[in-house]
Amino acid sequence: MSDKAIETLLAEDRRYPAPEDFAAQANAKSDIYDIPFEEFWEREGRERVTWFEPFTSLLEWELPYAKWYLGGKINVSYNCLDRHVEAGLGERVAYLWEGEPEGERSSLTYAELLAQVVRMANVLKELGVGKGTRVAIYLGMVTELPIAMLACTRLGAPNTVVFGGFSADSLADRSNDMGCEVLITQDEAWRRGSTVPLKLTADEAMAAAPGIRACLVVERTGNEVPMQAGRDHWLHNFEVPDDPATCPPEPMDAEDLLFLMYTSGTTAKPKGIAHTTGGYLVGAATTHRYVFDLKPETDVYWCAADIGWITGHSYIVYGPLCNGATSVMYEGTPDFPDKDRWWEIVERYGVTILYTAPTAIRAHMKWGPEFAEQHDLSSLRLLGSVGEPINPEAWVWYREHIGGDRLPVVDTWWQTETGMILITPLPGVTTLKPGSATRPFPGVDAAVVDDQGEEVGPGGGGYLVLRRPWPAMTRGIFGDDERYRTTYWERFPGMYFAGDGARIDEDGDFWLLGRVDDVMNVSGHRISTIEVESALVDHTSVAEAAVCGRADQLTGQAIVAFVTLKGGQEGSVEMLEELRDHVAMKIGPIAKPANIVFTPELPKTRSGKIMRRLLRDVAEDRPLGDTTTLADPAVVAEIADRAVAQPAED
Ligand code: WT7
Repeated sequence: MSDKAIETLLAEDRRYPAPEDFAAQANAKSDIYDIPFEEFWEREGRERVTWFEPFTSLLEWELPYAKWYLGGKINVSYNCLDRHVEAGLGERVAYLWEGEPEGERSSLTYAELLAQVVRMANVLKELGVGKGTRVAIYLGMVTELPIAMLACTRLGAPNTVVFGGFSADSLADRSNDMGCEVLITQDEAWRRGSTVPLKLTADEAMAAAPGIRACLVVERTGNEVPMQAGRDHWLHNFEVPDDPATCPPEPMDAEDLLFLMYTSGTTAKPKGIAHTTGGYLVGAATTHRYVFDLKPETDVYWCAADIGWITGHSYIVYGPLCNGATSVMYEGTPDFPDKDRWWEIVERYGVTILYTAPTAIRAHMKWGPEFAEQHDLSSLRLLGSVGEPINPEAWVWYREHIGGDRLPVVDTWWQTETGMILITPLPGVTTLKPGSATRPFPGVDAAVVDDQGEEVGPGGGGYLVLRRPWPAMTRGIFGDDERYRTTYWERFPGMYFAGDGARIDEDGDFWLLGRVDDVMNVSGHRISTIEVESALVDHTSVAEAAVCGRADQLTGQAIVAFVTLKGGQEGSVEMLEELRDHVAMKIGPIAKPANIVFTPELPKTRSGKIMRRLLRDVAEDRPLGDTTTLADPAVVAEIADRAVAQPAED
C-alpha cells in the first residue's frame, strides 16, 4: 500500500538546454524570474497595453475572486488595432488567411482589419448592440470570426464564441444561459471538403433561444440558406446609414466582462467561464510575448487551434493582435486534401512559430514523417504544445521531424479557467525535458500538494494548485457563484485546484499527470494514466495510447490499454505481449496492462482530448455515459466491439 497521492514511475532523463543563439536574442532572460510578483504584473500592465485611464491599484483579492488593474479604463479592440495603426504599423499583416479549398487565400493588414471591425461594429450598432448587449458568435475559421469578436469588444458587448462543430442544442443552451440578443453566423463552413450547415443549425438553435432577436450572416460558400425577414441580415450587403468610417472604441472598466467561454463539466450543464477585460488582455499578451518569444516585426506565428476554444481566443486573437503579430489562420483540417497540408502552409508563409496540441502531433506520428519531409520547414524557430500531457516520445518526434532536431519545444499548461499559460518553459532560458511543462510563468505561484493540502517536496506527486491570483484568471462561472466555489476552491481551502495531478522533480520542474479523476489505483498504488500511456507510446510501433482502470477483485483496479499502432498496422497476440513487457520494462510490472485493445482511433472530445471516462465504460462493459461531447461517436462503438473480441489476459 502506498500513502502517496500519486506515484511517480516513469523516468525521463533527456535534457535540452537552451541554444546559445536563441538565448542571446530571447525576449525573456533568466532574471525575469527574480522580479517580485507585483512589480512584474505592474510593469507588464503598463508595457503590454495602452490604457485610456491608468489603473490606480494592481490587485484586490477576496477569495475566490480577484480583481486586477482596478480603476483602469481600456478597450480591447483599440489595443489590438487602432494603436498599431496610429503607430504607423497599418501596413503590417495581421492575418494570413488560408481557406480549406485549395488556392483560397487572403491577407488582412492591421489597417484593413480595423476598417472591417469598424464596419461590423457599426452594423451591430444598427442591430441595437451597445455596451452590455450579449452576442453569440457561431462561425468557422473565417476572418469574420476575429472581426466579430473585436467588433463586440469595440462596443463593450460581451460575447461568447460557440465552436462551429457544436450542435443546435449546445448553441441554444449557451445563448440562453448568457442571455444573448444577437447571433453572428455564416451560411456554411468548409470542413474536409464538405460543407457544414451553420446557418441551418443556427436556425434550429434560434427556435429554442427566443432571446435572440437578430442574426447577422456572413457569406462563405455562397450556397442558398433560408433567411427570415426582419430577423436575419447578410453582413455583406447590410447598409449602414451615412456609412460612418469610424466607430469610437468604448472605454471599458478593467473588470467589465469581456467574454464567456463555455466548458463542459462533470454534469451536463456547461459552465460559462467568465473573463474580464484588463487583466485578461495583459495576461494573454504577456505570456504570448515571452513564451513564444514573439518578434512582431519578423515572426510569422501560427497557432493551429480553433478560435472556438480558449487557446484560439488567447493565442490567435487577443494575445497576438495586442502584440502586433502577424499570424496564420487556417480554415480546415490537417489532412485535406492530403496529410501534408500543414507543412505546405508552414513552407508557403515561412511560419517561424508553431503552436499545436499533442493530439495533432500524435496524428502526424501515426501518418508518418514522410509528409513533413516533402516540405521545407527551415523557417521554423520555435514549437509549442497545449491541451493534454504530451508523451515524451511525441515531444521528441515533434522536435526531430518538425523541428529539425534543433528547435525548442515549449509544453504549455493552462486551462479555459486560467485564461493564459501558467506553467511553461521560456525558450532561451529553460532547460527542456520532454514531457515536462517545467516551471510556473513569472509572477505565477503554482504548487503540488498532497491530500491534506501540504506541499510535496521535490520528487513528490499530488494535486496541482495555484496559491496566488494571476491577471487572466476567470472571474467565476457566469450566474453560478456556488458552482464556482465548490468546483475550484473547496478541495484545498485558500487555493485554486485545477483538477490535475502533477509531480515535481528534483529540479523543481512540473510534470503534469492528467485529470485526477483519471488516476488509477492498482494494488494500492495510485498510478497516473499519462505515465503508462507514455511508456506505450515509447514503443516504436505505437502512435497513440489511452489507459484506464477497470474494477478487479484482486488488485482493486486493473489497467486496460487502448492502443493505436503506426501506419495502420493491425494488432496481434505477439504485439500485445511485447507491449505489456515494454511497459513492465519502462516503469515496472505494477503498471503492466491487464489487457490491451487495438483500435484505429481513440474517442476524443471535439477539442482533441482523449475521453478516458468512456473507455472506463467500455473496459467495465457498462452502458456508455454521456457521449454528446465526442468528436466522432462511432469510434466508441467500434472500440467496444474490439474490446469484446479481445478477451482479457492476466
Ligand atoms: C485541461 C484544460 C488551455 C488550452 C486548452 C485546454 C489539460 C492543457 C496541458 C499541458 C498537460 C494539459 C489539463 C487542463 N492540459 N494543457 N501542457 N500538459 N495537460 O483547455 O479545455 O480548459 O483544458 O487540459 O488537464 O486541466 P481546457
